[in-house]
Parts: sequence; C-alpha cells; structure tokens
Amino acid sequence: NRPRIIAVDGPTASGKGTIAQALASHFGLPHLDTGLLYRAVGWHCRSRGGNPDDPADALAATRFPDALLADPALRREETGGLASRVSLHPAVRQALFERQRAFALQPGGAVLDGRDIGTVIAPEAPAKLFVTASVAARAQRRFLEMQARGEPVSLAAIEADLAERDRRDRSRSTAPLVAAPDAVVLDTSDLSRDEAIAAAIALVELKL
Ligand code: C5P
Repeated sequence: NRPRIIAVDGPTASGKGTIAQALASHFGLPHLDTGLLYRAVGWHCRSRGGNPDDPADALAATRFPDALLADPALRREETGGLASRVSLHPAVRQALFERQRAFALQPGGAVLDGRDIGTVIAPEAPAKLFVTASVAARAQRRFLEMQARGEPVSLAAIEADLAERDRRDRSRSTAPLVAAPDAVVLDTSDLSRDEAIAAAIALVELKL
C-alpha cells in the first residue's frame, strides 16, 4: 500500500502548475502549489518593509496570514522574483518544510508542485515528474499570459528574467532545482497543453 503522492518539479513556466492541477483532478487528489508559499513569503516580507535578501527579514515573513495565499498579487512576475530571493535562505525553506510535508502525507495522497518536492519534501513519492521546456518556449507562454492579464511586457525582458531565475534556482546550495534520480523528465517545449497533460497522466498511471 504505497502512498499516493505525486511530485511535480520543474522551472518557472514549464507547465508544471497546469500539469499538477490536471493530475489532481484526474486522480481525485488535493493539490498544493508550493511556489505560492514562497511567493507569499516574498510579498509579505516586502510589504512589511523588509529586505528579501536578509535571512532574518525573510524568516519573519514566513508567518504570513493564510488569507494572503488568495491574493492575486502573488501571481505577478515581480512577486516571483521576490519568492526566488527569499527561497535562497535555508531557514525559510526549513520553516515551510513541515507544512508541505504534512500536505504530502495526507492519508488519501496528494499532488505537490514546486522545485524540491521529489528530492526534499517527499522523496518517497512513487510518482515523480520533472517538467521542463526551453527558455524560448517558456518565455513565449509567459508573454501570452501576461498580455492576457494586461501587464506591460517585452519578450526579451521575460527571457532574461527566466534565465536569471533558473540560474538562481539551480545554483543555490540548499535544495537546488534538480531532477530526482527516479523522476521521469517531461519536456513540454513542443507539446500543446492537452498533449502535455495526457503524457503526464500516462506516466503517472504507470507509477501509482
Ligand atoms: O513556481 P513559482 O514560479 O511560483 O515559484 C516562485 C519561486 O519560489 C521559484 O523561483 C523558486 O525560487 C521558489 N520555490 C522554491 N521551492 C519550491 C517552490 C518555489 O524554491 N518548492
């Protein structure tokens, strides 16, 4: 009787959030977008006048009010940048660990998406996907999303920002973005949304 835990990791705008949501509804499991927790810490830190690069300021911001998780400001591109900065501090990762771990260990199982679910939060998950896509494909998707929300954007600025965030997420010493050895890599660069979802469901079905 293995735990029904599905770990979905990968870089920003790879499609992992969409895939995780679709897996949760297909398999009837609750879903946690762990990036949202880091976004809440980054946003809360900044709105209290703190410095996201300062470990003590960032740690204090892990006690954000739960209602903040529903704030649309967390979805903004600039909030992703703040999240990426606070997520570098080991104390912040530690403070968010228990909450994520408890979610993963719910009796019926769960889907979590993030950067270190398969490596740190739930290494025992039987189904692990590492979702990737080229920087160009990810920038194009993000560009269309932001245009649709009416945010002023340039494709070149998005590409530069994604590349910088990848570099920071991959090179940090605590829980760097890396595929778990037992993760299945799914490259969505040339897949439509529906194709990516179908591929993910087929891969997970083999593992659960
Ligand atoms: O996935 P999302 O873009 O919302 O994540 C925002 C930032 O939060 C990432 O760039 C990453 O630095 C951080 N993060 C993390 N570990 C996770 C989820 C997100 O470090 N499990």
